[in-house]
Amino acid sequence: MKNILILFIIFFSIESILANEINLFTTRHYESDIQLYKKFEEKTGIRVNVISGKSKPLEKRILEEDRECIGDIFFLADAGRLVSAEQKGIFQKINSEILENSIPKHFRNKYWFGLTKRARIIFYNPKLIKEDEIENLNYEDLAKKNWKGKIAIRQANNVYNQSLVSSLIETNGKKHTQNWLKGIVRNFSRNPQGNDRAQILAVAAGEAEIAIANTYYYALMLSGKKGPEQKKAAERVKPFFPNQNNRGAHMNISGAGILRFAPNKDNAIKFLEFLVSPTSQLHLSNNTFEYPMIENIEVNDLIKKIGIDFKQHNSIDVSTYGKWQKTSFKLMKEAGWN
Ligand SMILES: [Fe+2]
Repeated sequence: MKNILILFIIFFSIESILANEINLFTTRHYESDIQLYKKFEEKTGIRVNVISGKSKPLEKRILEEDRECIGDIFFLADAGRLVSAEQKGIFQKINSEILENSIPKHFRNKYWFGLTKRARIIFYNPKLIKEDEIENLNYEDLAKKNWKGKIAIRQANNVYNQSLVSSLIETNGKKHTQNWLKGIVRNFSRNPQGNDRAQILAVAAGEAEIAIANTYYYALMLSGKKGPEQKKAAERVKPFFPNQNNRGAHMNISGAGILRFAPNKDNAIKFLEFLVSPTSQLHLSNNTFEYPMIENIEVNDLIKKIGIDFKQHNSIDVSTYGKWQKTSFKLMKEAGWN
């Protein structure tokens, strides 16, 4: 009996040592991501088990399961969320020359790595706003009186907005941003509601003159993947990149880190390195319409149409979005941003 037990233990230990897999916790909900993971499986023989969900429940599970957690990687949208997970001790430090050489410094740290980029910009209705009214516009200008009742944006609890406000705090200071918030809230066309696409739809319908949204949502609408109505609506709206005469448009990332107790750490590193390869970057960008993290990727026509030669706010480290996240939310609420 004892011998059988020992054999049993040996068998399962070998089995776990040989397990050629990774367990990926992800908040990204793209079918195209799954196709990319299949390519990784074919190339390396490492199986990718996907555990998808929303960021808070997944984070809670990782924290509660602690050492027992089977997760190797946590893939999230928004630098604010990555920093918040980092601060809870979820990730382990990773050294990878490939990741360090591929990803610009301000889009990563030792704990997490930006894998795609997105810009949070302005969308306007050219029937309601002339090009010369909007040219040279900065995020800062959105607090000015001439925009009263014209701006559509989603709620304060949205992390993309918190990151945008955080970038303003980091750049202009807290006091300046408090005043800016008072101004922009006065300029809202309605009580913030809906997702990013809903803001673009409001502009298309003339219910607002400008909206703030992430670039890939607009491309998604233009692509027709969200139906003919949204395609038509997006065609009535134009993108505008703010702050082109100074620091550049607000950039954010989707990125991932390796969990502290990852059972398959080496495989997990290989997986992240695979995601920054040119073929993966092309796949990600062509399917989700995010901007590639690495240079010299020939993006598709839709992304080109939105714009690729704009000035990006590259002088800021995106981890500052996490640093100011709670302050941003507090100031937004205080200013009456629901
Ligand atoms: Fe999103």
